[in-house]
Formats: sequence, structure tokens, C-alpha cells
Amino acid sequence: MATRILVVDDDPVSLKLVTTILKQANYETLTATSGAEVLSRLDELRPDLVISDVEMPGMNGYELTRQLRQHPLTAQLPIMILTAHDNVQEKIRGFEAGADEYMIKPFDPSELQARVRVLLRRTMVTPPSEAQKISGKVIAVFSLRGGVGTSTVAANVAVGLAQLWNCRVGLIDLSLTTGQSALLLNLPLRKTWADLARVSVNDIDADLIEKVCLNHSSGVFVLAAPSRPEHAELITNDKVARVIETLKEHHHYLVLDLPHDFSATTLAGLDHADEILLLLAPELASVHAAACALDVFDTLKYPRNIIRLVLNWTFERRGLARREIEEALQRPIDVVLPFVSDTFVMAINRGIPPILESPPTPLGALFEDWAYILSKPEHQKQPPAQPSPMYQRVAARLAQRQAKR
Ligand SMILES: Nc1ncnc2c1ncn2[C@@H]1O[C@H](COP(=O)(O)OP(=O)(O)OP(=O)(O)O)[C@@H](O)[C@H]1O
Ligand SMILES: [Mg+2]
Repeated sequence: MATRILVVDDDPVSLKLVTTILKQANYETLTATSGAEVLSRLDELRPDLVISDVEMPGMNGYELTRQLRQHPLTAQLPIMILTAHDNVQEKIRGFEAGADEYMIKPFDPSELQARVRVLLRRTMVTPPSEAQKISGKVIAVFSLRGGVGTSTVAANVAVGLAQLWNCRVGLIDLSLTTGQSALLLNLPLRKTWADLARVSVNDIDADLIEKVCLNHSSGVFVLAAPSRPEHAELITNDKVARVIETLKEHHHYLVLDLPHDFSATTLAGLDHADEILLLLAPELASVHAAACALDVFDTLKYPRNIIRLVLNWTFERRGLARREIEEALQRPIDVVLPFVSDTFVMAINRGIPPILESPPTPLGALFEDWAYILSKPEHQKQPPAQPSPMYQRVAARLAQRQAKR
């Protein structure tokens, strides 16, 4: 059955434009011209997703969203607000009302289609039952020096894994006092680690964690850092361990966005890692921090083969050469991220990680390929039954590279 998208707008031109774009992507469209009409026809409409304008006579789009969230038929429905209001306050109002996505008019047709696709994907990903427990792979992203791209890499890798395998991926922000994972994905801080602060370790179970995670339309579940640093103190290392061990049973991948220290909570994260991405920028202090981190990893007896070095050009010029860094650290660098200032600034302002940029950019491709490399062997061995566009791009590049060899 085709996916049914309900478009709500009092302006006939806008209604026509949006429905035409959606039909081009093979969605079935339904229309309504007011919030009251939607609510009176809910039983009959049964949409899979709602796209609503804001300014409409009678009930505005925010009020409609609020009402839909209170109705059992539509409480979990993906809702996108589509509006000409382009300021942050309006956006926050939309999210507070319960919208999952906020898009500004005018927009590019392909962007609307892409956002609808990722928003729908979220509802397709259903939690595994007791019998389907999995053993998730834990990927820790770490650096002893701040500002080297730890959170950026963690968010993009998490989104990449969710999109490649259409599976549940958890992104756990362990930068408990300053974390910004939710911000990078444009998720309002409705729920955070702070909601687990006063719960005893033994009471933390899969259901509770699920309730305090934010859902991103890519299929990533984010456990966000508290919005107030003082709440961080109540998150202890045993809670961190409990959350990771519980989430591992329900997510194919967990990505940890770690702070720049060896605190007890950081160590609880690192101890669970199947793979550690150690980030550094091409400057002396950063190389020194990486050397210290590697020393500590050795002391902690982490196997060397789980550590991958990621050199991130967070500045434009005059950095240390790759070879010099490799000699200093006595280890090869696994991946190099180029300096791409504008892309990241835009990504943060729009809350869209570069890996979801449409059309895909070279940086997006790099993250996509990296997510593939970090995937479990069981995933890499067998193409997904319904390959996502991202998987198809990665597979095509892989085939191209193999043909060249
Ligand atoms: N390759 C790059 N080119 C340009 N800018 C980059 C690059 N990588 C990261 N940045 C920018 O550097 C800043 C720091 O990135 P990010 O927040 O991901 O790092 P972090 O290590 O998590 O920092 P924090 O110390 O805040 O935890 C951000 O503004 C990001 O956009
Ligand atoms: Mg960070």
C-alpha cells in the first residue's frame, strides 16, 4: 500500500505544489484546508505522515500538532511543519508543540522528498522483541583535546549506520556537561540524561531508556546530554555502564560521543567499546593529546587493533604533515577529514549533518564510506533486502574501487 501523506494548508497554490512534489516521489496524498477539518476526518484519513502549514484560519499548525499528539490514533505520527517563518523562536514553538521536523518555505523539491523519506524511515524501525535481542557494536569517538570534531564524527557515523542498514542506532552523548549531539541533529532537548539522574541503577531498563531517548528521523535514537551541567553530577559510571549494556541488546550499533577526559563515566564508555575512533587535528597539542590517550589505552590493556586514528583538518593551512604525525605516534592514520568550514557551519545552523546533505557532497560520501567500514561483518557480508540510496551509493563506489585494482 502506498504511503499516505496528509498535507494541511489553507492556500490552494501551496497545497498543489506540495502534493505534486510528493506524488512525483510516489506517495499518495490527502489534503485538508484547516486543522478542524483534519480533526473531524481523522478516522477516515489515517495518514502515515502529516505536513502542516502554520498560519491557517481558526487553528494554526502548532495547535493542530498539539491536538494530534493527544489523539491515540496520531500520537506517534511523524509531523512536519512547513512554513515561511524562518526564525529560531518559531522553530522552537513547532518542536514544543510536538513536531518532528520543521521546514522553511520556499524549499527545494528534492529536499522535501528527502526529509519525508527519512522521517518515514523512523516509523518503519520497530523495536526488537525479547526473542530478537541483538549484540550491538559499540563505537566510541574520543579525543583528549576539545574542538577536534568528536561530536561531528559521532553524529555523522551514527546517522550513516542507521541509513545504511535501516536499523536501530543509539547515539549516546557522554559529554555530560557540554554535550551537543542533539543540537547537531536539530533535536529539541525534551528528554535527556537528566531524566535518568534520580533513577536508581537497578530501575534502569530498556523501556525507560527508550522513553528518555530522542528520535531522529534517520533512525538514530539520541540519549542527549543534560541541558544543565549540574545534572551531570548525578550520572554515575555504573549508570553509564547499565545504559550501554541495556541498549546494546536492542540496537545494532551504539555510538558514544565522549568528552575530552578520562573521568569515570568516560572510562565506563571506553571500557565497552568494540572500536575507538581517536580524533586529532594536525597540530602539536592535538598530537600530544593523542599520544597521551594511546599511552593510557595501552595501560588499560585495550587491544591496539580496536583503535583507529582519525586526522581531522579543523583548520585550513600549515598543519603538520600526515607522515610526521604517523612517525610521532608510531601508528598509521586510518582516515583524513579535509577542512570544510562552510559545510560544517551550515550543517550546525540547519541541524542537518553533512552525511544527510542532498544532493550528496564529497564530505558526505566520506562519512558514508566510513560508516560502511565501521559496520559489523555480518552486515557487510549481505546487502540489505531493500537497499537504501545511501547503501547503493556506497556499494557503487566500492565496486568502482575494486574494478580499478
Ligand atoms: N573538517 C572540519 N573542517 C572545518 N571545521 C570543522 C571540521 N571538523 C569539525 N569542524 C568544526 O569544529 C568545531 C568543533 O567540532 P565538534 O563540536 O564536532 O568537536 P568536539 O571535539 O566535539 O568539540 P567539543 O570540545 O565541543 O566537544 C565545530 O564548529 C565543527 O563544525
Ligand atoms: Mg563534542
